[in-house]
Amino acid sequence: MKFSNPHVEYRSGELCCEEVSLTALAARFGTPVYVYSQATILQNFRCLADCLASFSSLLCYSVKANSNLSILKLLGDAGAGFDVVSGGELARVVKVQGNASRVVYSGVGKTQAEIDAALEAGILMFNVESAGELELIRSRAHTLGRQARIAIRVNPDVEAETHPYISTGQTIHKFGVPKEEAVSLYRSAKQAGLDACGIACHIGSQILNAEPFFKAFDEIKSLAGDLETEGVALRFLDLGGGFGIRYDNEQPLDFSRLARGLEARLRGSPYRLIVEPGRSIVANSGLLLTRVLYVKGGPGKVFVVVDSGMNDLVRPALYGSFHEILPLRAGLNGTVRADVVGPICETGDFFARDREMPPVREGDLLALLTAGAYGYSLASNYNSRPRAPEVLVHGKSVKLIRPRETIEDLIRPEVL
Ligand code: LLP
Repeated sequence: MKFSNPHVEYRSGELCCEEVSLTALAARFGTPVYVYSQATILQNFRCLADCLASFSSLLCYSVKANSNLSILKLLGDAGAGFDVVSGGELARVVKVQGNASRVVYSGVGKTQAEIDAALEAGILMFNVESAGELELIRSRAHTLGRQARIAIRVNPDVEAETHPYISTGQTIHKFGVPKEEAVSLYRSAKQAGLDACGIACHIGSQILNAEPFFKAFDEIKSLAGDLETEGVALRFLDLGGGFGIRYDNEQPLDFSRLARGLEARLRGSPYRLIVEPGRSIVANSGLLLTRVLYVKGGPGKVFVVVDSGMNDLVRPALYGSFHEILPLRAGLNGTVRADVVGPICETGDFFARDREMPPVREGDLLALLTAGAYGYSLASNYNSRPRAPEVLVHGKSVKLIRPRETIEDLIRPEVL
């Protein structure tokens, strides 16, 4: 047992999140249900923020990891800025913060409507990913009479050493523009009267080693130096997010070492560092509670069929990701080797394969750990399954931060 969440533990044989019994939560809200620990979210945020405190920096939480309004509010109140990638994410931030002054906007496919909304909201900067996007931002800012602050997202051509689906910083990837093109984009931005205030990159996600970050940072910093000689004086160096955490036995990224390395590289320079962590703030705070519906045995195989599926948590199906699975009752003796699978009609609908686990029975409750990032935010209604509720635990208090969807919710918008 590894307990990736420091605020989840067995108390008198019962798995608890902070001061609350998870069995009691399952009884109250039903299963499946997402449960988040407020203490863990804030502890993660403060831990990263403390590492950056000795130099000029802004931590922009990456909203895509978990975009629940209550979680955004918690982080905004704690001092976070935000990294958004859509008009929907921007609207969420504006709703909880009342303004967008600490928002950076990334994404390869921003639409005109989204650009207009971001200009009206007065975001900190657009991380621009193509010449066409730069031109659209210029013309919309002109039409709307707004100042557009921009960074060019550079593809630094650095290998991130992570899962190929979440690796983004090489020339084979769709993200950003090559260094050479970036220089000409800054020239056009300057000529067009845009405030070219930053440079950005994001090389991937779940990166455990600091070296690729240093390489990428050195690339954007040296480019910022070149631009300075051309009369483009940048203020922000945005390194993106992607700080790796422990799901299984991984050694998590040593963020304090990364921060110290960045601080040394920034010493004496005029730049403010921006980072965009998502997973490292929310992943280990969240778990998905599910109930065992059936246990069945095939030849040489045990299947534990649970009431949540890939529509609730798609990471194992999509990336083969590992999530620790714990029974809510401690002390089940012995182990079985089983596949933990959902009810969805896809072979990929599994949470674990050939997992050594306690011999659970029908009706037992299980917790899938480290599900706070890219869990609910990637959930879908596949197989017409209503999405699970989300609950935020704080000490002894429990807040339903999103109710369970109903079948009626799914059907209502459709037209016969
Ligand atoms: N900034 C940008 C521009 C990004 O594209 C991302 C993530 C982040 C920041 C935050 O990365 P983080 O710190 O959370 O690693 N669904 C996948 C992860 C996809 C990440 C996409 N971009 C997963 O479940 O592992």
